[in-house]
Amino acid sequence: MDKIIIKGGLPLHGTIKVSGAKNAALPLMAAAILAPGEHVLHNVPDLRDTRTMLTLLASFGIKWRRRESDGALLLDSTIIDNVEASYDLVKTMRASVLVLGPLLARMGRARVSLPGGCAIGARPIDFHIKGLARLGVVSSLDNGYVEGSVEGRLKGNTIYFDIPSVTGTENLLMAATLAEGITEIRNAAREPEIANLIDMLTAMGARIDGRDSDCLVIRGTKKLRSAEVTIIPDRIETGTYLLAAAATGGELTVAACNPGHLGALIEKLREAGVEVRVGQDEIFVCRTQPLRSVDIKTLPYPGFPTDLQAQIMALMCLGNGLSVITETIFENRFMHVAELRRMGADIKVDGHSAIVKGAGSLTGAQVMATDLRASASLVVAGLAAQGETEISRVYHLDRGYDDLVGKLIGVGAVIRRESE
Ligand code: UD1
Repeated sequence: MDKIIIKGGLPLHGTIKVSGAKNAALPLMAAAILAPGEHVLHNVPDLRDTRTMLTLLASFGIKWRRRESDGALLLDSTIIDNVEASYDLVKTMRASVLVLGPLLARMGRARVSLPGGCAIGARPIDFHIKGLARLGVVSSLDNGYVEGSVEGRLKGNTIYFDIPSVTGTENLLMAATLAEGITEIRNAAREPEIANLIDMLTAMGARIDGRDSDCLVIRGTKKLRSAEVTIIPDRIETGTYLLAAAATGGELTVAACNPGHLGALIEKLREAGVEVRVGQDEIFVCRTQPLRSVDIKTLPYPGFPTDLQAQIMALMCLGNGLSVITETIFENRFMHVAELRRMGADIKVDGHSAIVKGAGSLTGAQVMATDLRASASLVVAGLAAQGETEISRVYHLDRGYDDLVGKLIGVGAVIRRESE
């Protein structure tokens, strides 16, 4: 297992280019299952999670390669000869469940391992299963696998989410494109990654109304065709680097991003006294004054993203007062608190809220990554802390950050990766 060692306290300077969004790449790759032919995906990040998805797709018979000339990912889904997603793959990546809807829609059956426990809470998939049942899927649980099948084609229906689920919306959206009749998804999630998926499905010939809204109407069609599409920039990677720059008191431009996807974070940074300038596809941040502590509440998009909660908590440890950070999406997403405390942070957890008493500084320590975004918060903290920080279990970061160490070195961080 590798570890990352950071010599902190140095302001970041320069420009970082963000990669394609992990959370858009995964559903768009799964969408290739829906139609035979060669799909072309641009801007797919090279991450542990995207590689896991490729292994999963290959296990169904889909062939893939990276085009040398431009790095595009080509997925040939002409032949699908297996419909089982094994526990070995699903247990390493919960988003594997995204193959369930497309497999049922195209093949009429699927057998997908249940994702099981997860460091940030129970994270069930009951919404996915209930929604698919509304489309005519009969499913059962067998040895930890969800086995689903449908007589003929899926049947359009109305589906209502108790709470908006991102991958739930994506799974049902994909399934509904090949259903007979009209499907309406109400209280759908509105994350930008869903709009990216809708663009791909539309290019494949699907008819979907309500893009960017919480009510999606899908007119099912018998057949879809292959498509060419570009993955949107990763807003969580963008936000992580903005927060790192603010934490170190640096001056950073994050390029190739979509500022429109980061409204909630930009507002909070400004409230905290960070200068933020927004361009067409870049964001400039600069901090020259002490940080003001601000309150944060995570919410579904366009609210403040839960995937940036840990990183902004690291920033608030450097604030000048009290910050109340409330997590409303996941029930157990404060695993980073204990590690931040090792770096001198003063944080109390009270139910769904963390009360952070900003101390203006942090000190380097040996810490352990517990999940993807918690690891990112330790990087933000380590970059700002006085002294050396050693983060173990770096494989979590590899799931979602393309070349994190290389990108940070490029903007002046003293950071290296070592085998433990
Ligand atoms: C996606 C993102 C993840 C992000 C999360 C919330 C991907 C691959 N992952 O995860 O990075 O943190 O959205 O923005 O896009 N729930 C149920 N039953 C279900 C499904 C969800 O109770 O069947 C609950 C969850 O426990 C959670 C809430 O609904 O409390 C929202 O979760 P959801 O949006 O489904 O998260 P994911 O799609 O798994």
